Amino acid sequence: MRDHAGLTGAKEVCDRGTCGACTVLLDGEPVYACMMLAIQAQGREITTVEGLARNGNLTALQEAFVDKDASMCGYCTPGFVMSLTALLRRNPHPTPADIHHACAGNLCRCGTQPRIVQAALQASGVEVLSRTEVISYAHLA
Ligand code: FES
Ligand code: FES
Repeated sequence: MRDHAGLTGAKEVCDRGTCGACTVLLDGEPVYACMMLAIQAQGREITTVEGLARNGNLTALQEAFVDKDASMCGYCTPGFVMSLTALLRRNPHPTPADIHHACAGNLCRCGTQPRIVQAALQASGVEVLSRTEVISYAHLA
C-alpha cells in the first residue's frame, strides 16, 4: 500500500503485530496490515485513513482528533483513527471503556491516549470528560 499505491497513512512501525500503527479496515474490520499478505486481502475491501474523508471533508472523528489535539508525532494516529472508526460505526455511542477496548491493539508512545479518548467521545456526541477524568478512568479500567 505504501510503496505501490502511495497510501502512506498506515505506518509500518513494529512489523510484528504489536503497535497498531499499520491498522486498516478490511471489509470494515480493523486489522494489522503488517500481519497480512497481499494475497489474503485479494477481493476484499481495504480502507486506509486516506479513504475516510469525503469531498475534502474530514469525518467527525478526524475533526475531533484535531479539536482535541490528540496527536503528537502522529505515527500512531492513523491506526487509532481506523480502530475508532470501526468502533463508532458499530457503536455510535461508546463508553470510555468501549473506547479503551477498541484501542487495545494500538499504542501511543507519546502519551496522547487521554486526548484520543476525549476525541472519540466528542465524535460520538457524548459529554466530553476532562483530561483528568479520562486519566483517572484509565487507571481504574
Ligand atoms: S506495524 Fe503492524 S502492528 Fe505495528
Ligand atoms: S502521537 Fe506519537 S506515538 Fe502516538
